[in-house]
Amino acid sequence: MSFRLQPTPPARPNRCQLFGPGSNTKLFAKMAASAADVINLDLEDSVSPSDKDSARANVIKAINEVDWNTKYLSVRINGLDTPYWYKDVVDLMEQAGDRIDQIMIPKVGCAADVYAVDALVTAIETAKGRKKRISFEVIIESAAGIAHVEEIAASSPRMAAMSLGAADFAASMGMQTTGIGGTQENYYMLHGDTRHYSDPWHWAQTAIVAACRTHGVLPVDGPFGDFSDDEGYRAQAKRSAALGMVGKWAIHPKQIALANEVFTPSEEAVAEAREILAAMEAAKARGEGATVFKGRLVDIASIKQAEVIVRQSEMIAS
Ligand code: COA
Ligand code: MG
Repeated sequence: MSFRLQPTPPARPNRCQLFGPGSNTKLFAKMAASAADVINLDLEDSVSPSDKDSARANVIKAINEVDWNTKYLSVRINGLDTPYWYKDVVDLMEQAGDRIDQIMIPKVGCAADVYAVDALVTAIETAKGRKKRISFEVIIESAAGIAHVEEIAASSPRMAAMSLGAADFAASMGMQTTGIGGTQENYYMLHGDTRHYSDPWHWAQTAIVAACRTHGVLPVDGPFGDFSDDEGYRAQAKRSAALGMVGKWAIHPKQIALANEVFTPSEEAVAEAREILAAMEAAKARGEGATVFKGRLVDIASIKQAEVIVRQSEMIAS
Protein backbone atom coordinates (compact mmCIF):
# COMPACT_ATOMS: atom_id res chain seq x y z
CA MET A 1 0.00 0.00 0.00
CA SER A 2 1.12 3.50 -0.74
CA PHE A 3 1.76 5.83 2.21
CA ARG A 4 -1.63 7.35 1.32
CA LEU A 5 -4.19 4.72 2.31
CA GLN A 6 -7.11 3.86 0.06
CA PRO A 7 -10.25 5.51 1.46
CA THR A 8 -13.30 3.35 2.12
CA PRO A 9 -16.44 4.15 0.11
CA PRO A 10 -19.82 4.75 1.78
CA ALA A 11 -20.82 1.61 3.74
CA ARG A 12 -24.32 1.10 2.36
CA PRO A 13 -25.73 -1.42 -0.09
CA ASN A 14 -25.95 -0.10 -3.65
CA ARG A 15 -26.74 -3.31 -5.50
CA CYS A 16 -29.60 -1.94 -7.54
CA GLN A 17 -30.53 1.59 -8.55
CA LEU A 18 -34.12 1.69 -9.84
CA PHE A 19 -34.96 4.50 -12.26
CA GLY A 20 -38.32 6.01 -13.06
CA PRO A 21 -39.30 9.12 -15.02
CA GLY A 22 -40.32 12.09 -12.87
CA SER A 23 -43.24 12.54 -15.27
CA ASN A 24 -44.70 9.10 -14.44
CA THR A 25 -46.19 9.66 -10.99
CA LYS A 26 -47.95 6.30 -10.87
CA LEU A 27 -44.57 4.56 -10.64
CA PHE A 28 -43.39 6.35 -7.46
CA ALA A 29 -45.20 4.17 -4.89
CA LYS A 30 -44.17 1.03 -6.79
CA MET A 31 -40.56 2.18 -6.77
CA ALA A 32 -40.72 2.86 -3.02
CA ALA A 33 -42.14 -0.63 -2.41
CA SER A 34 -39.51 -2.35 -4.59
CA ALA A 35 -36.44 -4.30 -3.44
CA ALA A 36 -33.97 -1.78 -4.91
CA ASP A 37 -31.40 -0.26 -2.54
CA VAL A 38 -31.35 3.09 -4.35
CA ILE A 39 -34.18 4.98 -6.06
CA ASN A 40 -33.38 7.40 -8.88
CA LEU A 41 -36.21 9.76 -9.73
CA ASP A 42 -35.38 11.13 -13.14
CA LEU A 43 -35.68 14.70 -14.38
CA GLU A 44 -33.30 14.17 -17.31
CA ASP A 45 -33.54 12.02 -20.41
CA SER A 46 -36.69 10.04 -19.63
CA VAL A 47 -38.61 13.33 -19.32
CA SER A 48 -39.52 15.29 -22.46
CA PRO A 49 -38.64 19.01 -22.59
CA SER A 50 -42.31 20.01 -22.36
CA ASP A 51 -42.65 18.06 -19.08
CA LYS A 52 -39.53 19.35 -17.29
CA ASP A 53 -41.36 21.79 -14.98
CA SER A 54 -44.18 19.42 -14.06
CA ALA A 55 -41.78 16.48 -13.52
CA ARG A 56 -39.71 18.62 -11.14
CA ALA A 57 -42.85 19.52 -9.18
CA ASN A 58 -43.99 15.86 -9.14
CA VAL A 59 -40.64 14.70 -7.81
CA ILE A 60 -40.56 17.31 -5.04
CA LYS A 61 -44.09 16.36 -3.99
CA ALA A 62 -43.19 12.66 -4.04
CA ILE A 63 -40.02 13.18 -1.98
CA ASN A 64 -42.12 14.93 0.65
CA GLU A 65 -45.16 12.65 0.59
CA VAL A 66 -44.25 9.09 -0.43
CA ASP A 67 -43.01 6.70 2.29
CA TRP A 68 -39.54 5.85 0.95
CA ASN A 69 -38.76 3.67 3.93
CA THR A 70 -35.03 2.85 3.99
CA LYS A 71 -34.39 3.65 0.33
CA TYR A 72 -31.39 5.76 -0.53
CA LEU A 73 -33.21 8.47 -2.47
CA SER A 74 -31.54 10.17 -5.40
CA VAL A 75 -32.78 12.57 -8.07
CA ARG A 76 -31.13 12.78 -11.49
CA ILE A 77 -31.00 16.45 -12.49
CA ASN A 78 -30.56 17.72 -16.03
CA GLY A 79 -27.12 18.17 -17.55
CA LEU A 80 -25.10 21.36 -17.16
CA ASP A 81 -25.48 22.05 -20.89
CA THR A 82 -29.25 22.52 -20.48
CA PRO A 83 -31.33 25.46 -19.23
CA TYR A 84 -33.05 23.19 -16.66
CA TRP A 85 -30.37 22.09 -14.21
CA TYR A 86 -30.10 25.19 -12.02
CA LYS A 87 -33.85 25.13 -11.30
CA ASP A 88 -33.66 21.39 -10.61
CA VAL A 89 -31.06 22.06 -7.91
CA VAL A 90 -32.65 25.22 -6.49
CA ASP A 91 -36.17 23.80 -6.27
CA LEU A 92 -35.03 20.45 -4.87
CA MET A 93 -32.82 22.05 -2.24
CA GLU A 94 -35.38 24.70 -1.28
CA GLN A 95 -38.60 22.70 -1.49
CA ALA A 96 -37.85 19.02 -0.98
CA GLY A 97 -37.55 18.13 2.67
CA ASP A 98 -34.71 16.26 4.31
CA ARG A 99 -35.75 12.90 2.86
CA ILE A 100 -33.69 13.40 -0.31
CA ASP A 101 -30.24 11.83 0.09
CA GLN A 102 -28.43 12.40 -3.17
CA ILE A 103 -28.30 14.33 -6.42
CA MET A 104 -27.20 12.53 -9.57
CA ILE A 105 -25.35 14.72 -12.07
CA PRO A 106 -25.46 13.29 -15.62
CA LYS A 107 -22.92 13.73 -18.43
CA VAL A 108 -20.19 15.05 -16.15
CA GLY A 109 -17.15 15.93 -18.27
CA CYS A 110 -14.71 17.47 -15.80
CA ALA A 111 -14.27 18.22 -12.10
CA ALA A 112 -15.53 21.79 -12.61
CA ASP A 113 -18.98 20.45 -13.56
CA VAL A 114 -19.26 18.93 -10.09
CA TYR A 115 -17.74 22.06 -8.52
CA ALA A 116 -20.48 24.21 -10.04
CA VAL A 117 -23.27 22.05 -8.63
CA ASP A 118 -21.44 21.80 -5.29
CA ALA A 119 -21.24 25.59 -5.00
CA LEU A 120 -24.97 25.96 -5.61
CA VAL A 121 -25.97 23.08 -3.32
CA THR A 122 -23.67 24.31 -0.54
CA ALA A 123 -25.05 27.86 -0.68
CA ILE A 124 -28.65 26.65 -0.44
CA GLU A 125 -27.85 24.07 2.24
CA THR A 126 -26.32 26.83 4.36
CA ALA A 127 -29.03 29.42 3.62
CA LYS A 128 -31.80 26.95 4.46
CA GLY A 129 -30.00 25.51 7.49
CA ARG A 130 -30.37 22.00 6.03
CA LYS A 131 -29.05 19.42 8.47
CA LYS A 132 -28.38 16.55 6.09
CA ARG A 133 -25.51 16.92 3.66
CA ILE A 134 -26.63 15.91 0.17
CA SER A 135 -24.28 13.45 -1.51
CA PHE A 136 -23.47 13.37 -5.23
CA GLU A 137 -23.38 10.61 -7.76
CA VAL A 138 -22.30 11.21 -11.33
CA ILE A 139 -22.67 9.45 -14.64
CA ILE A 140 -19.61 8.94 -16.82
CA GLU A 141 -21.19 8.90 -20.26
CA SER A 142 -18.97 10.91 -22.57
CA ALA A 143 -15.47 10.87 -23.99
CA ALA A 144 -14.61 13.83 -21.74
CA GLY A 145 -16.05 12.04 -18.71
CA ILE A 146 -13.87 8.99 -19.16
CA ALA A 147 -10.82 11.08 -20.11
CA HIS A 148 -11.18 13.05 -16.84
CA VAL A 149 -12.55 10.23 -14.72
CA GLU A 150 -10.04 10.51 -11.90
CA GLU A 151 -10.38 14.26 -11.36
CA ILE A 152 -14.16 13.74 -11.35
CA ALA A 153 -13.93 11.02 -8.69
CA ALA A 154 -11.85 13.44 -6.59
CA SER A 155 -13.95 16.52 -7.38
CA SER A 156 -15.95 16.95 -4.15
CA PRO A 157 -16.24 15.50 -0.64
CA ARG A 158 -19.89 14.93 -1.58
CA MET A 159 -18.90 12.33 -4.20
CA ALA A 160 -20.44 8.98 -3.25
CA ALA A 161 -21.04 7.00 -6.45
CA MET A 162 -20.19 6.96 -10.14
CA SER A 163 -22.00 5.05 -12.90
CA LEU A 164 -21.15 4.17 -16.48
CA GLY A 165 -23.95 5.34 -18.79
CA ALA A 166 -23.51 3.03 -21.75
CA ALA A 167 -25.86 4.66 -24.28
CA ASP A 168 -24.65 8.26 -24.11
CA PHE A 169 -21.09 6.98 -23.70
CA ALA A 170 -21.34 4.97 -26.91
CA ALA A 171 -22.77 7.97 -28.78
CA SER A 172 -20.11 10.36 -27.48
CA MET A 173 -17.33 7.92 -28.34
CA GLY A 174 -18.73 7.47 -31.85
CA MET A 175 -19.22 3.75 -31.25
CA GLN A 176 -21.15 2.03 -34.06
CA THR A 177 -23.92 0.57 -31.91
CA THR A 178 -27.42 1.36 -30.72
CA GLY A 179 -27.32 -1.25 -27.91
CA ILE A 180 -27.45 -0.07 -24.27
CA GLY A 181 -24.79 -2.25 -22.62
CA GLY A 182 -24.14 -5.94 -23.14
CA THR A 183 -22.68 -7.93 -26.03
CA GLN A 184 -22.27 -6.07 -29.31
CA GLU A 185 -22.69 -7.99 -32.56
CA ASN A 186 -19.59 -6.54 -34.24
CA TYR A 187 -17.15 -6.71 -31.33
CA TYR A 188 -15.54 -10.11 -31.65
CA MET A 189 -12.27 -11.90 -32.34
CA LEU A 190 -12.19 -14.59 -34.98
CA HIS A 191 -10.41 -17.85 -34.16
CA GLY A 192 -10.74 -20.23 -37.08
CA ASP A 193 -14.43 -19.97 -37.87
CA THR A 194 -15.47 -19.28 -34.29
CA ARG A 195 -16.43 -15.82 -33.08
CA HIS A 196 -15.31 -14.95 -29.53
CA TYR A 197 -17.23 -11.95 -28.30
CA SER A 198 -15.30 -9.34 -26.33
CA ASP A 199 -16.65 -6.73 -23.93
CA PRO A 200 -16.61 -3.21 -25.42
CA TRP A 201 -17.48 -1.66 -22.03
CA HIS A 202 -14.56 -3.28 -20.22
CA TRP A 203 -12.04 -0.47 -20.50
CA ALA A 204 -14.43 2.26 -19.36
CA GLN A 205 -15.66 0.13 -16.47
CA THR A 206 -12.16 -0.62 -15.28
CA ALA A 207 -11.14 3.05 -15.53
CA ILE A 208 -14.19 3.98 -13.44
CA VAL A 209 -13.45 1.31 -10.82
CA ALA A 210 -9.83 2.47 -10.48
CA ALA A 211 -10.82 6.15 -10.13
CA CYS A 212 -13.56 5.30 -7.64
CA ARG A 213 -11.42 2.98 -5.51
CA THR A 214 -8.65 5.61 -5.41
CA HIS A 215 -11.04 8.21 -4.02
CA GLY A 216 -13.54 6.27 -1.87
CA VAL A 217 -16.44 6.38 -4.34
CA LEU A 218 -18.84 3.51 -5.19
CA PRO A 219 -18.42 2.26 -8.79
CA VAL A 220 -21.75 1.27 -10.39
CA ASP A 221 -22.72 -0.24 -13.73
CA GLY A 222 -25.44 1.68 -15.56
CA PRO A 223 -28.42 0.60 -17.63
CA PHE A 224 -29.01 -2.56 -19.63
CA GLY A 225 -31.61 -1.62 -22.18
CA ASP A 226 -33.04 -4.98 -23.29
CA PHE A 227 -35.21 -5.77 -20.28
CA SER A 228 -36.53 -8.95 -21.87
CA ASP A 229 -33.01 -10.45 -21.83
CA ASP A 230 -32.48 -11.68 -18.25
CA GLU A 231 -29.42 -13.78 -19.10
CA GLY A 232 -27.80 -10.86 -20.94
CA TYR A 233 -28.38 -8.63 -17.91
CA ARG A 234 -27.00 -11.28 -15.57
CA ALA A 235 -23.88 -11.79 -17.70
CA GLN A 236 -23.21 -8.04 -17.87
CA ALA A 237 -23.78 -7.65 -14.12
CA LYS A 238 -21.49 -10.57 -13.30
CA ARG A 239 -18.70 -9.04 -15.39
CA SER A 240 -19.19 -5.73 -13.56
CA ALA A 241 -19.11 -7.42 -10.15
CA ALA A 242 -15.98 -9.36 -11.13
CA LEU A 243 -14.32 -6.03 -12.05
CA GLY A 244 -15.14 -4.41 -8.68
CA MET A 245 -18.43 -2.63 -9.29
CA VAL A 246 -20.95 -2.80 -6.45
CA GLY A 247 -24.25 -2.61 -8.31
CA LYS A 248 -26.19 -1.91 -11.48
CA TRP A 249 -29.18 0.14 -12.61
CA ALA A 250 -32.63 -1.29 -13.22
CA ILE A 251 -34.73 0.46 -15.86
CA HIS A 252 -37.56 -2.04 -15.37
CA PRO A 253 -38.67 -3.75 -12.13
CA LYS A 254 -37.80 -7.21 -13.43
CA GLN A 255 -34.11 -6.25 -13.38
CA ILE A 256 -34.10 -5.57 -9.61
CA ALA A 257 -33.96 -9.20 -8.47
CA LEU A 258 -31.24 -9.91 -11.03
CA ALA A 259 -29.04 -7.09 -9.70
CA ASN A 260 -29.64 -8.07 -6.08
CA GLU A 261 -28.77 -11.67 -6.90
CA VAL A 262 -25.49 -10.86 -8.67
CA PHE A 263 -24.25 -8.15 -6.28
CA THR A 264 -25.03 -10.06 -3.07
CA PRO A 265 -22.06 -12.40 -2.50
CA SER A 266 -23.39 -15.97 -2.66
CA GLU A 267 -23.36 -18.20 0.44
CA GLU A 268 -20.76 -20.40 -1.27
CA ALA A 269 -18.49 -17.44 -2.05
CA VAL A 270 -18.74 -16.15 1.54
CA ALA A 271 -18.12 -19.63 2.97
CA GLU A 272 -15.05 -20.08 0.79
CA ALA A 273 -13.75 -16.62 1.73
CA ARG A 274 -14.11 -17.52 5.41
CA GLU A 275 -12.26 -20.79 4.80
CA ILE A 276 -9.40 -18.86 3.17
CA LEU A 277 -9.25 -16.51 6.18
CA ALA A 278 -9.17 -19.54 8.52
CA ALA A 279 -6.44 -21.20 6.42
CA MET A 280 -4.36 -18.02 6.59
CA GLU A 281 -4.88 -17.76 10.37
CA ALA A 282 -3.56 -21.31 10.69
CA ALA A 283 -0.63 -20.47 8.37
CA LYS A 284 0.16 -17.38 10.45
CA ALA A 285 0.18 -19.52 13.64
CA ARG A 286 2.78 -21.73 11.92
CA GLY A 287 4.82 -18.64 11.06
CA GLU A 288 4.01 -18.90 7.32
CA GLY A 289 2.87 -16.08 5.02
CA ALA A 290 1.69 -18.43 2.28
CA THR A 291 -0.05 -21.79 2.25
CA VAL A 292 -2.00 -24.18 0.06
CA PHE A 293 -5.81 -24.03 -0.04
CA LYS A 294 -7.68 -26.57 -2.19
CA GLY A 295 -4.54 -27.13 -4.26
CA ARG A 296 -3.82 -23.47 -4.93
CA LEU A 297 -1.64 -20.75 -3.44
CA VAL A 298 -3.11 -18.38 -0.89
CA ASP A 299 -1.05 -15.69 0.78
CA ILE A 300 -1.40 -12.37 2.58
CA ALA A 301 -3.03 -10.77 -0.50
CA SER A 302 -5.63 -13.54 -0.39
CA ILE A 303 -6.69 -12.27 3.05
CA LYS A 304 -7.56 -8.90 1.53
CA GLN A 305 -9.40 -10.53 -1.38
CA ALA A 306 -11.42 -12.73 0.97
CA GLU A 307 -12.15 -9.75 3.23
CA VAL A 308 -13.71 -7.85 0.29
CA ILE A 309 -16.31 -10.62 -0.06
CA VAL A 310 -16.93 -11.10 3.67
CA ARG A 311 -17.19 -7.34 4.33
CA GLN A 312 -19.62 -6.85 1.42
CA SER A 313 -21.78 -9.70 2.69
CA GLU A 314 -21.79 -8.42 6.29
CA MET A 315 -22.58 -4.86 5.19
CA ILE A 316 -25.57 -6.06 3.13
CA ALA A 317 -26.79 -8.30 5.96
CA SER A 318 -26.69 -5.43 8.45
N1 COA B 1 -40.36 1.36 -11.51
C1 COA B 1 -41.38 0.75 -10.86
N2 COA B 1 -42.38 0.09 -11.50
C2 COA B 1 -42.31 0.05 -12.83
C3 COA B 1 -41.27 0.65 -13.56
C4 COA B 1 -40.26 1.33 -12.84
N3 COA B 1 -39.25 1.93 -13.47
N4 COA B 1 -41.47 0.43 -14.88
C5 COA B 1 -42.60 -0.28 -14.98
N5 COA B 1 -43.12 -0.52 -13.76
C6 COA B 1 -44.34 -1.27 -13.43
C7 COA B 1 -45.49 -0.92 -14.35
O1 COA B 1 -46.20 0.21 -13.84
C8 COA B 1 -46.30 -2.18 -14.31
O2 COA B 1 -46.98 -2.22 -13.10
P1 COA B 1 -48.41 -2.98 -12.95
O3 COA B 1 -48.10 -4.43 -13.09
O4 COA B 1 -48.86 -2.58 -11.58
O5 COA B 1 -49.28 -2.45 -14.05
C9 COA B 1 -45.23 -3.28 -14.24
O6 COA B 1 -44.07 -2.64 -13.67
C10 COA B 1 -44.87 -3.87 -15.58
O7 COA B 1 -44.50 -2.84 -16.45
P2 COA B 1 -44.43 -3.04 -18.04
O8 COA B 1 -45.83 -2.99 -18.59
O9 COA B 1 -43.63 -4.25 -18.34
O10 COA B 1 -43.60 -1.79 -18.51
P3 COA B 1 -44.16 -0.40 -19.06
O11 COA B 1 -44.50 -0.55 -20.50
O12 COA B 1 -45.23 0.11 -18.14
O13 COA B 1 -42.87 0.52 -18.90
C11 COA B 1 -40.73 1.41 -19.39
C12 COA B 1 -41.67 0.23 -19.56
C13 COA B 1 -39.35 1.04 -19.91
C14 COA B 1 -41.27 2.63 -20.13
C15 COA B 1 -40.63 1.72 -17.87
O14 COA B 1 -40.19 0.55 -17.23
C16 COA B 1 -39.78 2.87 -17.49
O15 COA B 1 -40.21 4.02 -17.56
N6 COA B 1 -38.53 2.62 -17.02
C17 COA B 1 -37.65 3.62 -16.51
C18 COA B 1 -37.05 4.49 -17.61
C19 COA B 1 -36.06 5.48 -17.03
O16 COA B 1 -36.20 5.93 -15.92
N7 COA B 1 -35.02 5.80 -17.79
C20 COA B 1 -33.98 6.66 -17.33
C21 COA B 1 -32.78 5.92 -16.92
S1 COA B 1 -31.98 5.13 -18.28
MG1 MG C 1 -27.54 9.26 -20.30
